[in-house]
Amino acid sequence: MSGIKESKRGGFGSKIGVVLASAGSAVGLGNIWRFSYMTGQNGGAAFILIYLCCVFLLGLPVMLSEFTIGRRAHSNTMRAYLKLAPGTKWFMLGGMGVLAGFLILGYYSVVCGWTLEYLFQSVAGNMSGKEPEAFNSMFSAFTSSSFRPLMWMILFLLLTHFIVVKGIKKGIEKSSMILMPMLFIIMLVLIGRSVTLPGAREGLSYLFNPDFSKITSSVVLSALGQAFFSLSLGMGCLCTYASYFPDNTNMVKTGVEVTVLDTTVAILSGVIIFPAVFTFGIDPSSGPELVFVTLPNVFQNMIGGYLWSILFYILLTLAALTSTISMHEVVTAFMEEETRISRAKAAWIVTLGCMLIGTYCSLSFGLLGRVTVFGLDLFTLTDFISSKVMLPLGGMFISLFTGWYLDKKILWDELSNHNTLRFRLFKAYLFIIRYVAPVFIACIFLKEIGVL
Ligand code: PHE
Repeated sequence: MSGIKESKRGGFGSKIGVVLASAGSAVGLGNIWRFSYMTGQNGGAAFILIYLCCVFLLGLPVMLSEFTIGRRAHSNTMRAYLKLAPGTKWFMLGGMGVLAGFLILGYYSVVCGWTLEYLFQSVAGNMSGKEPEAFNSMFSAFTSSSFRPLMWMILFLLLTHFIVVKGIKKGIEKSSMILMPMLFIIMLVLIGRSVTLPGAREGLSYLFNPDFSKITSSVVLSALGQAFFSLSLGMGCLCTYASYFPDNTNMVKTGVEVTVLDTTVAILSGVIIFPAVFTFGIDPSSGPELVFVTLPNVFQNMIGGYLWSILFYILLTLAALTSTISMHEVVTAFMEEETRISRAKAAWIVTLGCMLIGTYCSLSFGLLGRVTVFGLDLFTLTDFISSKVMLPLGGMFISLFTGWYLDKKILWDELSNHNTLRFRLFKAYLFIIRYVAPVFIACIFLKEIGVL
């Protein structure tokens, strides 16, 4: 593939930049907001166990595949398939990724907007002196109103937009270096408070004591979707980032680091949230509001809660921002490279399109609350189509592409950096992407839609 031009595309400057940008994409609202409510809706520990299997047995290998495709082709996710599989239909896989990125960014921005509102309310001091019930009403009053959630969602998308327009900036690499460790420290402090709450025992047992009777195909599909969502897989996001990796990046090591970091943040957030859920009598299966009604109670019961709360929402905002940037980049890179329009114009099209999706998703908590498709409200529907259909399918086809279509030598060449690195588990990796991942994902999928 030496004919592929590396051209004037941007790129990451350092090893640490590569890891942090990829981890920045992976660690986001998915680890804290989505992970906890998915765990709550799918029965707790049994879900987590399956989630962990999905992350390490399927997610990590698919991540290595995305890295390989991206760095080999040095282009946006759709062009990558056109380059590596010319004259075939594989480019549609890239196209589906771009579409999934668009949808996810649209509804994800709504939740990013909620985070901004909670940051604002924390600064204004409106988060203290309330009964647990009051946080419930505060959340529903806010999300069902029309204007404020839309305003925050639009603001968040604009923030993402202006960073993306500037290109892969050192600012993000550098700020991630400070932000990630800070997020970690704050989480440890919050754990300290949460595990000393009266409901801690119940919360931790819910989290770590599996009840295997709760496992159904829907739970497994949810865990699979969550694993891919949390690791930013199945839609070419890490493939796009890998196209900016330098040639000497050790992709296997990077993949393991990103996976471990992402999973640790998810589990830690469970340890913070579930003791509080049981202490304050919140229903674990209450859905997307879980974090937003649980955590204010924790802050309220802490010394210095006012400051911790502000700090936490700042970090959550920033973690979300590094994820929205990565989703935006997938679609913007595609538009910029596949059409003749400038990066700035491409970014505007993406931003405005996502605002549209964000608007109907946001209004589905109020004005459009009665509109349902297949019994799902518009927010849940968008989440379902993108995270439970497109990401797992994307992951399955990425496995098939690297396992069966791409020459084995190319895989080895990329993952071993032209035979200069060792990758002892290469055979196991190959076995997984050839057989395990495609068969497993297909079965879960067919079972869920009632074919099996
Ligand atoms: N992984 C991100 C999170 O956990 C979300 C995301 C999904 C980012 C898909 C990019 C692509 O919040």
